[in-house]
Amino acid sequence: MTPRAQETGDAEQLVDRARRAIDDASTEAALDEVENAFLGKRGELARAQRALGSLDPDQRREVGRELNAARARLEALLSDRRASLHAEERTRRLAAERLDLTELVEVSRRGRLHVVERTRQQLEDVFVGMGFVVVEGPEVETDFHNFEALNMPIAHPARSMWDTLYVDLGPPESVVLRTHTSPVQIRLMQRQGPPIYAVMPGRCYRRDTPDARHIPTFHQIEGLVVDHGISFGDLAGTIETFTTAYFGPEIHSRLRPSYFPFTEPSAEYEVTCTICKGAGCRTCSHTGWIELGGCGMVDPAVFEAVGVDAEEWTGYAFGFGIDRCAQMRHELPDMRVLLENDVRVLERL
Ligand code: FA5
Repeated sequence: MTPRAQETGDAEQLVDRARRAIDDASTEAALDEVENAFLGKRGELARAQRALGSLDPDQRREVGRELNAARARLEALLSDRRASLHAEERTRRLAAERLDLTELVEVSRRGRLHVVERTRQQLEDVFVGMGFVVVEGPEVETDFHNFEALNMPIAHPARSMWDTLYVDLGPPESVVLRTHTSPVQIRLMQRQGPPIYAVMPGRCYRRDTPDARHIPTFHQIEGLVVDHGISFGDLAGTIETFTTAYFGPEIHSRLRPSYFPFTEPSAEYEVTCTICKGAGCRTCSHTGWIELGGCGMVDPAVFEAVGVDAEEWTGYAFGFGIDRCAQMRHELPDMRVLLENDVRVLERL
């Protein structure tokens, strides 16, 4: 073969080899490598062009033209292959990222606050709207705060109204699981003097047998107002406003004379039974009324126990059952469902 024929054969062969390598390149990165190997500065074509110097002028011109044609051909092949690889890669990426909108995905169910906690928040909102602040106290209480400062000295018969659970801390019968939220009144008045406008929600414990209206662990919201010239009329007005705000205008309330050692005079606060609408049923023991709490004017003995001058200040207090409010608002014939944790019931409340 003459040198010319050899050069021409080389150019054709080079294009053939490059075409195969281009076809074999399966990614854009692999194609870059092929381009470098054939068209790069140190690539095969550049090497062949450098060898042109050893040919005579006529041959150099002819072989040079062939090599230029080979370069143009390879550039076109590379460009086509790059475009199709690019399209393939895009299709692959789109397929990988595609969302299957027909797929059924198990969505984890979102929980929500228990109805008693929601009731507590709603009650707080009503009282905050009336100008009260929210205060909290401990669930494990001293005998002094739970009984003594509330005008129930040791062995006072009224203590039996709140049969309780003692805790083995300190001397016998000195620490209790609080039976009501009234001890928070004492703690608040020990901490700050009047004027006071506060509500005190929280959990309470009693050795009560569960029934339609009682559970051993329940919740109360206490109220305490101490200021100049506070009267029973203020207490009655506050309770009336609360009843309408929380239960709506359909539900009536009444105050019935009662007895608590820490208030004088004292009253029970009752609302129309929402289960029977006042007609009488098992839940309300056929009276048509449900007791929501107790209330009254703060007894001077309580003021004395916490160092508030009863000659200057007067006040009222109340304590409502939060679970009882939830029971009436949601028309639950039996309060025990609140503790049973049956999600089918709770999610409907
Ligand atoms: C008291 O606990 C007084 N401390 C209330 C009070 C506060 C009176 C301030 C005067 C001044 P009583 O024991 O009646 O009172 O309970 C009040 C309310 O708590 C009841 O009406 C009821 O709604 C709720 N309650 C009481 N025991 C239970 C129980 N075992 N389960 C559910 N709710 C209860």
